[in-house]
Amino acid sequence: MDPKQFKGRSLLTWKDYTAEEIRYLLDLSVEVKQQKKQGQIHQRFIGKTLALIFEKRSTRTRCAFETAFGEEGGHPVFLSTQDIQLGAKESIEDTARVLGRMFDAIEFRGFKQETVEKLAEYSGVPVYNGLTDQFHPTQVLADIMTLEEAFGNSREKKLCFVGDGRNNVARSLMVICAKLGLHFVIITPKALMPDQALQDVCQAYAASSGATLEITDNLNAVQGANALYTDVWVSMGEEAEREERLRLLKPYQVNKALMKKTGRADTIFLHCLPAVKGEEVTQDVIDGPQSRAWDQAENRKHTVKAIMLATIK
Ligand code: CP
Ligand code: NVA
Repeated sequence: MDPKQFKGRSLLTWKDYTAEEIRYLLDLSVEVKQQKKQGQIHQRFIGKTLALIFEKRSTRTRCAFETAFGEEGGHPVFLSTQDIQLGAKESIEDTARVLGRMFDAIEFRGFKQETVEKLAEYSGVPVYNGLTDQFHPTQVLADIMTLEEAFGNSREKKLCFVGDGRNNVARSLMVICAKLGLHFVIITPKALMPDQALQDVCQAYAASSGATLEITDNLNAVQGANALYTDVWVSMGEEAEREERLRLLKPYQVNKALMKKTGRADTIFLHCLPAVKGEEVTQDVIDGPQSRAWDQAENRKHTVKAIMLATIK
């Protein structure tokens, strides 16, 4: 793989990357993690600047980008919607044009996928989707890395997402798993199944990668799973739907009984965090020996560093 083919590219969704390119980024993530553990100091972003735009709150994504960029000598600038206009008094296109003149790359977290797409189109620099209502691509690269750390590889591993099957994390997992050849299952009530259009796109990826994709409301589908993954029942911006979500998702909590139902002693538990303990997952599972949620959180930093190293010119 020619590393030059990544230069200048944005990451809006994994739909835009081939399986081989994702593999390259995973390998680079492992390399930068090792370098960090060995105490190696690199200054690969010296003289570079990164804009971090946040319409929604964040702990991991902001800290991953800021520390990964800063420890390589770069200068990250945090911009909340309290600080900049972005669609309020200035169009997104104009903000993008200006930021593109001052920054080497832009990270965006917010509501609409369209906003991150516009930023990429008009800024002329790499733009990273740090979560929108539709996708959370940087998260799921860390998730696959964590799965590979646990099992040696991810191909043909069975990953079950249990919870709100139409949210940004579930949809992003569906794309990356279909590209990389995993057996991916979403277990969710019928009312929360992901849209057919994305299912069709992912089924096409699966046909060429050897992946399988199953969407079901039946919890028996956890049988044989290498990993059970869940996320909050109420995503940011959907607070009005809280009552209904709790009603729909109560039977879908990841607890000890569900972990046992996989029939495997080595099933790991994954969660993108933040977690609402007692809702989507019980405390004994997330804080227990099968949980890899904390490795997953750490891996956010190594994976975003790899993405930025590959794409910033
Ligand atoms: N997983 C994740 O994106 O966490 P934050 O919301 O804290 O960034
Ligand atoms: N689905 C969650 C993910 C948080 C990282 C949300 O959008 O709030």
